[in-house]
This record gives sequence, C-alpha cells and structure tokens, in this order.
Amino acid sequence: MTQYDLIIKNGTTVTASDKVKQDVAIKDGKIVALGKDLSGGTREIDATNLLILPGGVDAHCHIEQRSSSGIMTADDFYSGSVSAAFGGTTTLLPFAAQHRGQSLRQVVDDYMACAVPKAVIDYGFHLIISDASDAIIGQELPAMIEDGITSFKIYMTYDDLKLDDYDILNVLAAARREQAMVMIHAENHDVIRWITEKLLDQGKGDPKYHAIAHAKIAEKEATHRAISLAELLDTPMLVVHVSSEAALNEIRRAQARGLKVYGETCPQYLFLTIDDLDKDGMEGSKFCCSPPPRDKESQDAIWSGLIDGSFTVFSSDHAPYKYDSSGKLAAGPKPTFDKIANGVPGLEIRMPLLFSEGVMTGRMDIHRFVEVTATNPAKTYGIHPRKGTIAVGSDADIALWDLTKKVEITADALHDNMDYTPYEGRVANAWPTTVISRGRIVVENEELCVERGSGIYLKRDRPEAAKPLQRLVSEIDPKTNFGAKFI
Ligand code: URP
Ligand code: ZN
Ligand code: ZN
Repeated sequence: MTQYDLIIKNGTTVTASDKVKQDVAIKDGKIVALGKDLSGGTREIDATNLLILPGGVDAHCHIEQRSSSGIMTADDFYSGSVSAAFGGTTTLLPFAAQHRGQSLRQVVDDYMACAVPKAVIDYGFHLIISDASDAIIGQELPAMIEDGITSFKIYMTYDDLKLDDYDILNVLAAARREQAMVMIHAENHDVIRWITEKLLDQGKGDPKYHAIAHAKIAEKEATHRAISLAELLDTPMLVVHVSSEAALNEIRRAQARGLKVYGETCPQYLFLTIDDLDKDGMEGSKFCCSPPPRDKESQDAIWSGLIDGSFTVFSSDHAPYKYDSSGKLAAGPKPTFDKIANGVPGLEIRMPLLFSEGVMTGRMDIHRFVEVTATNPAKTYGIHPRKGTIAVGSDADIALWDLTKKVEITADALHDNMDYTPYEGRVANAWPTTVISRGRIVVENEELCVERGSGIYLKRDRPEAAKPLQRLVSEIDPKTNFGAKFI
C-alpha cells in the first residue's frame, strides 16, 4: 500500500549539522518521515551515491527589476527561477524595488503580478526602500512587514537610492520596532563620486576604473558607519555583498562585541578579481558590479570569512544585464565606467561553484556549505524551518547532488536569459542533478518538469535574527546604548 507521494531511497542526507544515510519520505509537499528502508511511495527515486541536501535559498537576487537608471534585468521570474532551480536553489528572495515617489504597497503588487504567473520555485520579497519619508517609514513599512515582507534593503550610495545617515536612523528605528531585518549596501557615496570625477577628468573611463572608484576604503568606512548606526539603535543589521577584508573585519569586530551584525558575500568575490575588469574593449563591463571584485588577497580573506563563520549567508546577487544596448551598453557602445549597469549574473552557479571550489577541494566543510547557502538564509529571513533544512515537517525542498558530474559553465549551458556568464569555461566538479520543491520534481534528467507559475509566494515570519538584543527600552543601559532610549 502506498502511503507517501515520493520516497528518496539509498542516499545520504546532509544538513547544517548532520550527515545520515537514510531515506526521505514526502507527502503533500512536506517531509513526513526520515529513516532506513522506508517503503510505500507512489514514486521512488534511487539516490545511491548521491547526497541529499536542502534546496538552496538565494536571499539576494534582482529579477525583473528596473534599475534606478531605467535598465531592465535580463531575467524575468520564469527564466530566473528556472535558472536558480537548475543550480539547486528552491527558494528565491529577490527585491521589490521602490523608486522614489512610489508606494510600497504598489511596488509589491507590481512584483507579485510579475512573479505569480511565472515563478517555478517558491519566493518571497525584500523591499528596497529609497524614500524614507514619514509616510513610508511610519505607516506603509509596518503594514508591509505585518504582511510578511520582513526584511528590506537600503543603500548608502547611488544617487537615486541612497539614504543619508539621518534617514538610515529613522529606518533602523522602524526596523527595531517591527523586528524586520535591515540589509545595507555599504559604500561611501561621496568617496566614489570624488574619485570618479577625478578619473573621468583624466580620461580614465575604461571598465577597470570602476574598481578604482569603488575603493576598498569606501566600503570599509561605510560598513563601519552602518554598524555604528545599528549599534546606536540596538538594531540587527546584515551587510550585503561584502568584498574586502577591511569591511569583513568591521563585521567581525562587531560580532566579537556581541552585536547582531551579519555579513553576506557572493560568488563574484570568491571567483573574480579586478583583472577581469581589465579586459579588451568593453569586455570588462561584464564584470562590473558594486562593490567590485578585488585582488587575490581579498579573495582569500573572503574565503576565510565564509569558512570561519564570519559570514552568515552566501547569495548570488544575481543582477543580470546583457552585454548589449539593453543592459551593460545601454548608455552607448563605449560608456565610461560610471554609466555601465552594475551587476553580474550568478543564480545558477552560486551553489555548484562553491561546492566545487569549497567542498570538493576540502577547503570548506559540507555542513558549512549547507548553512550558508540554505539554512542561514532561511533563518535570517524568517522562513526556517519550513525552508533551508531536511527535517520532518519541513517543505520537501531538496537537491540531489552528484559528486561525479562535471559541468563546464558556459552561457549556452546555463538556463538564465543572459548572453554571457562571467564564469565562462570554468568547470564545476559536482552538480545537483535532481531538484525538488515542495515534493514536486522541478529538474530531472536535465529537463524542467514543472509549469510556469507553479512556485508560490512565501509570507515570512519576523526573523529571530532581527530581534534586538534588548527588547524593552526600559532595560537599555543609557551608558552603553544611548540612541535606543529615544525609539
Ligand atoms: O552591482 C551590483 N551588486 N548590482 C546589483 C545592485 C546591488 O547593489 O546589489
Ligand atoms: Zn547592493
Ligand atoms: Zn544586489
């Protein structure tokens, strides 16, 4: 008699804490049993010699998003979610980006209208807040958080997005009251602006100068300032896309002092360097993102932070702009670096490249891999234990990894809608061959097996990680924390 919809047999489950040779039984989209010799599945998958990992949670990606300068990402919610699934990711947390003057409710409604008919895996949204007026922060934001959008990103740079420190404090105060996670893009706007002006005055507009303008010190200073503001108001904060050792050390220092400060890094800071921007003609524009890829020493430092626990999450920061006039070259065939759309694609390669270069080389423990690619993002953004782990009661979001499958990464082989990949020609020495979302087989035998729009929206909880250290203002010692007294 069948009692399960699906059983994954003869494999080894790997979570952030455990590795167990056991079967996984699934019913109604949930994991309902784990154990030896399970039987009675309508369908059974033989996972002999495969590792059974939680599906990945990509907590930073830009999909069907128009940039502040009006350039549209190449991927919509169909191609983006398909590409993610082929790389072992089963949950996406892209952005619903507010342009100044827009209501948050309208922004989210617009993104929902794009995602609902197209996404093939589950998704939630972070807001991007570019307008910190009282009406937005005082009324709209709390309502959106109540509705399950329990995190948002703010920027310290980009003319059309940046908030000044005063606005950041207002936003942090709201996040603290509402227990939402603040994600921050930490680069000093004026440092970048100043260096950019000088470089352009000297006729230095090639893509490689993007990495000079976005100096490490601009990232370090902004990271220090962002953390100081968060500390002042006793508000947890996650610094996104960290690229340099100096910024990482700011995060480490905060963590060592017991602050709830988290860090995120991305594939481009492990696998690319400034040399990639220094390619012939405009080729370097394919590698322009902010912060930029840096030097070999920075790469090593970022690897260390990922391995030693300093970083909490590993996200793609997939920001796909084609190498044509719709994307990287929207400002003309040879734009100066400040006019090149910022961002690189990475949804599909995020986990395979880290697994290959981290786990397969022995550099990174496999449990740590699961932690930073799935479990921690789920915890940090209020969807754990539903997502990000393999446990009875969790959604059956699973990737079966074949450690003998070598895949050459090329733009043609990937499933996104891009015309290039910054990782062209690299080989991943392991790949997730079967990918399951809520018990539905999404990818099998290199084929997509689900319909457009079959992913569902995730209303998220307020993350435990966003709970201030001291919940009650009356408990705050004014000698150690002055600002939070005034919230
Ligand atoms: O260059 C990047 N990272 N582009 C995407 C936008 C952002 O700031 O994350
Ligand atoms: Zn950013
Ligand atoms: Zn981003």
